[in-house]
Amino acid sequence: MKNKSFATILLNWHKEENTREMPWKGEKNPYYIWLSEIILQQTRVEQGLPYFLRFKQKYPTVKDLANAKEDDVMKLWQGLGYYSRARNLHETAKNVQQNFKGKFPETFDELKTLKGVGDYTAAAIASFAFGENKAVVDGNVIRVLARVLGVETAFDTTEGKKKFAQLARELIDEKNPAAYNQAIMDFGGVVCSPKNPKCEDCPFTRICVAKNHELIEQLPYREKRTKITNRYFNYLLIKSDKEIVIRKRTGNDIWQNLYELPMIETPKTLKKGFAEAIVKQLGTKQFAIKSYSEETTQLLSHRKIHFRFIEVELTDFKSFSLANAQKVKLNALSKFAFPKTLHLYLLEKSLF
Ligand code: ADE
Repeated sequence: MKNKSFATILLNWHKEENTREMPWKGEKNPYYIWLSEIILQQTRVEQGLPYFLRFKQKYPTVKDLANAKEDDVMKLWQGLGYYSRARNLHETAKNVQQNFKGKFPETFDELKTLKGVGDYTAAAIASFAFGENKAVVDGNVIRVLARVLGVETAFDTTEGKKKFAQLARELIDEKNPAAYNQAIMDFGGVVCSPKNPKCEDCPFTRICVAKNHELIEQLPYREKRTKITNRYFNYLLIKSDKEIVIRKRTGNDIWQNLYELPMIETPKTLKKGFAEAIVKQLGTKQFAIKSYSEETTQLLSHRKIHFRFIEVELTDFKSFSLANAQKVKLNALSKFAFPKTLHLYLLEKSLF
């Protein structure tokens, strides 16, 4: 297919059929584009939208974000997962403020020097804000190209990455990079979706290789499946009528700088009979176990976390202390950012 016809079909679809209105569409402010793209790498448009609006409202300029407290940024990000992105977001805002006088760099190459800004985000900002001819390649784009053109190279290989990047470069409308990039991303989200794509509304149906060879389920092709490791986190709910013990996660591990309840990790699922021995590791002797939960799990990108919650009643809460932990007022608990499953547990216990 000629490049021109691919881009023309796509741009026509975007102009005539796509009615999805999004606050970042047509946006020229690189700070807002950057914010929206970092959020949208993490979630679907529908879920990302309220986060984008909250960030924009709370931190209207990159300076506001740079001056924010990290705990507040994490709190606003809570629920999106992959918290290193939120830390990078904050760090990059500070970098732009300090080293670029609060002004985002204006070229793809310079944008890429920012932490957390890879090819995809740099192409989005460079094209949307500055009209640079750079094609975005994200999951949406890969899916559209793989299906319409019948590309069977696995996208998660070196060869596949090169191939999709090259195709994207060839197909972009050089006169209209911003509109083209926006169109292909919307098209991948609205029509050529991962599950049940709307082939009946698709302007490429007649020529789409995947449609004509029944390859929609198979494409895009991925070579590696991520290996999942299991981890077993046993959380201890320790509280009085007014206060609760929490701690901040530090160290190079998941959920860095988020808050959690005191936790003891075990190599396997904790059997009920061992719960007391686990609590004793806290160095406390006078306690009773009030409840021991069923196991719940949460799947992260390449880990499965198995949660167990143990409610502990201490005879002497007042004198209890634990390294790196703090007692906070129950009515202040909602100020802290917790990983999703802990957040849900605390909600269930009516502590939020
Ligand atoms: N997904 C990521 N970025 C997007 C954008 N700008 N528009 C639509 N979907 C997106």
